This record gives sequence, structure tokens and C-alpha cells, in this order.
Amino acid sequence: MSILKCISCGAQYDISRRYFRCDKCGDLLEVVHDMEIYKPNSMKGVWRYKSLVHPELHEKFIVTRGEGDTFLYKHELISELTGIKEIRLKHEGENPTGSFKDRGMTVAVSHGKFLGARHTICASTGNTSASASSYSSIAGMKSSVLIPKGKISRAKLIQSIAYGAEIVEVDGDFDSAMENLESIVKQNQHLYTLNSLNPWRLEGQKTIFYEIMDKVKEPDFILVPAGNLGNTSALGKAIRDYYELGIINKKPRIVAIQAEGASPFYKMWHYGMDEIKPVIAETIASAIRIGNPVNWKKAKWAIKYTDGIVEAVSDSEILDAKRAIDKSGIGAEPASAASVAGAKKLKEMGIIDKSDTVVAVLTGHVLKDIDNITQIGSMIDFNTFLERIKGESKHN
Ligand code: F0G
Repeated sequence: MSILKCISCGAQYDISRRYFRCDKCGDLLEVVHDMEIYKPNSMKGVWRYKSLVHPELHEKFIVTRGEGDTFLYKHELISELTGIKEIRLKHEGENPTGSFKDRGMTVAVSHGKFLGARHTICASTGNTSASASSYSSIAGMKSSVLIPKGKISRAKLIQSIAYGAEIVEVDGDFDSAMENLESIVKQNQHLYTLNSLNPWRLEGQKTIFYEIMDKVKEPDFILVPAGNLGNTSALGKAIRDYYELGIINKKPRIVAIQAEGASPFYKMWHYGMDEIKPVIAETIASAIRIGNPVNWKKAKWAIKYTDGIVEAVSDSEILDAKRAIDKSGIGAEPASAASVAGAKKLKEMGIIDKSDTVVAVLTGHVLKDIDNITQIGSMIDFNTFLERIKGESKHN
């Protein structure tokens, strides 16, 4: 049987619980499965790994949009930029609402359906809210999303509006929206939280790793952009699953990449601090503009467990990487480009070698955050175009 367990004091709870902090010490809970049984099934995407994600859930509760099974790209422009020959990009922007959040959302909302939840809530920099709104509506649940007023991309906001959510604008930044959410859900436990504070989200996000392992033999490094640190934590948990089941003998090293202006986890790790010290976050990569990440303890464990790395990159390094990702024809939102920028930086620092096998996760679609387009294509008027191709045809 799966249970929920506090990551600090070890208190255990039944999976029918819908409040996701420990009653005794207030820390985060994690899902612990009975790991003896592992068999991928014939379903697609995330639910193919059901026995590692939510083994007990009856199939009638599954709320899915066919998430997962995302493409793994290899492109010479990315190898050129980073100096790494075997670098692949796992494009999570190709999920139904355009980000990796859908993997966690299908599991969290399905679990909510099993619990009988009727009203979901989340705080978000835009992608969680887009995904939560969509999956809640598919499940017939009401959704309320708390967003920092004026600080999320319009494209993401429009998704939530279109999917029928109630948009609650909060004065301040993402961190204050998250703080508000925590106190609201503590006092109103009929509300079902869809942030990565909900440990079922992380169960779904583990499948990024399982899919990578279906395609790549022994990756040395897996890089993710790091904000609220849900993905970093989920990767660590997924690696532990495969390691303990004997499916892998070598743990890939997790690399969490933060934006310099929003890098409390990087600072904690490098200055050897015991606890995270929240910062006021500022970066062009609005998705990871987070100064007080909720999952820092789980992520710290994940980095330690895999002998991982935490690095920070500047906004201009993020935009350089985005330019290469976009020009290659793959495309991603700025926050996603942090993983590729991080690969380049670690190669230059001599930590990643040019012959290492590397996977960088792209977390969001190119259309998600269009205010920061880096202008690779060109625009000319029609007559200039006609003149130019006339000139070209003479030479061909
Ligand atoms: N990349 C994108 C595109 C994101 O939207 C996020 C998080 C991250 C990376 C960071 O992932 O939190 O697991 O470390 N976005 C959240 C949101 C916080 O509200 O959409 P993380």
C-alpha cells in the first residue's frame, strides 16, 4: 500500500489525506509506494508507469489528456553552442497545455477525483495555472488560480481564462501568492491544492526520467531549470526508484539551473547554508521568478543523492541559449533555455566533458512567453522580398 510520509519527522498518513503538510511538524509529505511491483503497462505516456506513480488508483478516476511521450531532440546547433556532442533536449513543452506541468497535473487531478475534490486551487507563475485550469475543467471541478498581478505572461493567463478558471490577482510576486495559498488551504481543507506542494504532482513528473531512460543509455547529466524545485525533487525520486529496483546501476547527476536573479537554492548550496534564505526574485524568465521555493528540502536531498550540481545563469546566457534553441527549429520559452545555458556554462567550467551524455529538459513551449522573443527570423516587406528572390533566381 502507498502512504504519505513526512520528510522531516517521518509521521505517516493515509493516501486519503488531502492537506499536504504534516500535522505534527508542518513539513512536506512525500508519497511512498510499495516498490516490489514494477511493470510498465500498455497505456501511453505518464500512465504507462502507473505502478510507480499511483499503483492503487482505480482506472475510472484517471483524468488524462494523453500527456507524456514527449520528443527527444538532437541538433547540431545545440552541440555547437554547448560544446557537448551528445546533448539531447527532452521537450516538455509538447505536452497538452504546453509545459511539463501536465505530467504532474494528470496524477494530482486524478487523485483529487478519487478524493471527491470539487474545487482546486493553485498559485502560479503561469504554467501550473494553465495546466490546473485545463485538467480541473476536464474533471468537472471548479478551479481558482492565484497569480502575481501583472507578472505572468499573457499567453499563460489567457489559457487559464479560456479553460474557465477563476483568476485571482494577488498584489506582489509569486512568493506572496504562494504564501497566501498556504494559509488559505490550511484553513479551508475542502480546497484541493495543485501546486508541487501536492506530492502526487511529483509522482507524475517522475515519468520524465523514466521516458529518458527508455531512449538514452546511461546519461551522465540531466539538467532542469529550477524554480519551485518540484522537478529537481521528482527527478531525484525517480532515480531512486530505478536504482532501488535495480533497473540502473549508475545514477545520472541531476543539475538544477537557476536564473541568477532568482537563485536562493544556488546560494544555499554554494555557501553551505543549512536552510534556504528567501530572496526577492527578478529575471526575464518569468516562469522561474521564484525567491522562496517550497520544495527546497526535497531538492537538496535529490542533489545530494545523485552527486548533483546547482548552478546559476544570467538572463543574457538564458537568452543566448533560447536563440539557439529557437533557431534550431525546436523552440522553447525563456525559463526552459536555462537548462541549455547551464550545460554550456558547466562545459566551459570543465565540469561537463564534451564526450558526456547529457539530457537538458525544455520545460515550456515557445509560444508560452512571447514577450521575450529573441528575434531570429527577419521581416521584410513584400516588394523587397520579390526583388530579392529575382536576384536569387539569376544565381541558381
Ligand atoms: N520551467 C517552466 C517553464 C516553469 O513554468 C517552471 C515552474 C519551472 C521551469 C520550474 O520548475 O518549479 O519544478 O522547479 N513554474 C511554476 C508555475 C512555478 O507556477 O508554473 P520547478
